[in-house]
Amino acid sequence: MKYVRHKFVKGEAMKTKLAIPDAASLILSLRSVGYTLETAIADIVDNSITAKATEICIDVKWNNDFSYISICDNGFGMNEEDLHQAMKIGSKNPMDQRGHDDLGRFGMGLKTAAFSLCKRLTVGSKLAGTESMSVRVWDIDNIVDSNRWELFDGSATLAWQDASKRLINYNQGTIVVMEKLDRFITENYSDQAIGRFWQRIAEMEKHLSMVFHRFLSGAQAIRIFINGKRVEPWDPFMRQSLATQEFREEYVECNGRNIRIHAFILPHHSKMSISEFDEAGGINGWMEQQGFYVYRNKRLIVPGTWFKMLRKNEPSQLARIQLDLTADMDFEWKIDVKKSSAAPPSILRENIRRIARIAQEASRKVYYFRGAVINQKTRDEDNEAIWEQAIIRGRMFFRLNRDHALLKEVCSELSDGSAKKLSAYMKMVEGFAPMNVSLTGPVSSESDHAEELVNSAVKFCYDLIEVGYSSSEALSKVLQISIYEGMSDVIKSKLKL
Ligand SMILES: Nc1ncnc2c1ncn2[C@@H]1O[C@H](COP(=O)(O)OP(=O)(O)O)[C@@H](O)[C@H]1O
Ligand SMILES: [Mg+2]
Repeated sequence: MKYVRHKFVKGEAMKTKLAIPDAASLILSLRSVGYTLETAIADIVDNSITAKATEICIDVKWNNDFSYISICDNGFGMNEEDLHQAMKIGSKNPMDQRGHDDLGRFGMGLKTAAFSLCKRLTVGSKLAGTESMSVRVWDIDNIVDSNRWELFDGSATLAWQDASKRLINYNQGTIVVMEKLDRFITENYSDQAIGRFWQRIAEMEKHLSMVFHRFLSGAQAIRIFINGKRVEPWDPFMRQSLATQEFREEYVECNGRNIRIHAFILPHHSKMSISEFDEAGGINGWMEQQGFYVYRNKRLIVPGTWFKMLRKNEPSQLARIQLDLTADMDFEWKIDVKKSSAAPPSILRENIRRIARIAQEASRKVYYFRGAVINQKTRDEDNEAIWEQAIIRGRMFFRLNRDHALLKEVCSELSDGSAKKLSAYMKMVEGFAPMNVSLTGPVSSESDHAEELVNSAVKFCYDLIEVGYSSSEALSKVLQISIYEGMSDVIKSKLKL
């Protein structure tokens, strides 16, 4: 639905009064939009990628009060006028159409990301074929003192002199320098604090290798360096591993545009070395990193989510699904200024939920049975499955497939007595199988089939008694089975022993 602007009623005379935001208070509140070091640096790197940079050098210098972080690229740069415009808060209209590979949106990223870490932001830029560099500086101390949006057109700080050398070596490009890092360096200058500073830089490196992994590999790979060390791509889908299974790509349509979805099931841990397993777990660990990976113009914005539709749980942790959005879908998907969250439009929810369920199921199969093949099966292959699954009292329960061809053949050759013994034994295998006993979390108390469940427990007791167990042995075995948890009184009362 589109909203229309209200028109004045004819003859109604209204005047407008200017209400200009107070520079000092606005700039201070913009510092707290919720960026972290990682998301702030990634947002600045976005601008370099949009400017077609092939090399981005991030330099981090520790020097007590004079520490700085700089990001220098060899992209197409800006002239003085464009740079001046780029430094304004809200330099672009979010409603403007963006290029298909533009990673920006709100015209805020550069400034809000920088101010969430520092009080002084200097940007220098130069175009190809020009010797001179244009410079603009925001200094929050100055904005607060003067309460005016005043930009400096040059800088003479030691940090700037040191950092800007990088851009001098490039034919074209842009450098962003952040000084007075009051929001990043919040501790004293003890050895431990310095250690933590470098620890966070190492975490930032991992974040960049994750969110930009699709730019960091392939023939046209962009090179990102942190203090001279190249950032390597981290592929969430372990495509280089032969044991990774992939579903066919799928396209879901939304308002005339296609969203590409590609699900992967990562290998069972027995197929990986310990270091591969740790590495594939990613920054947040296996549990957290399952689900949809939302990319906007190839840049990862959400590393693993089920969009609050399904829970993250251990057996589904091998499922990771690539979901590709383009910049013209920002509003439908509620992309935020920090580009760190997204939510599917309601018309897509059912489709997304269906894909999520299939992937979770496939992950469970591989998780419990190393090497299970999840690709679509033919009818005949269905009867080859050893296990089948059922949801009982909110928990996944695995049963032996009674239609397995070999099992059927064996049963047909057995006497009645032996067939009963085998059946009782199979029920115990199911009841005590590690994947059925190791399920954690409460079984749901309400069940539509409670009566049926109690009857099955009672029948199981009788079966065990028939093949030679004493009644107390039979009862105690049955009561140990997880799906009958909390039902012992009803079961006992129904058993006529
Ligand atoms: N590294 C860069 N190279 C070239 N242009 C840049 C660079 N960084 C920022 N800009 C310009 O500044 C503008 C504002 O950037 P930003 O505040 O991040 O907002 P957005 O990326 O949403 O447009 C960009 O649209 C771009 O025109
Ligand atoms: Mg930007």
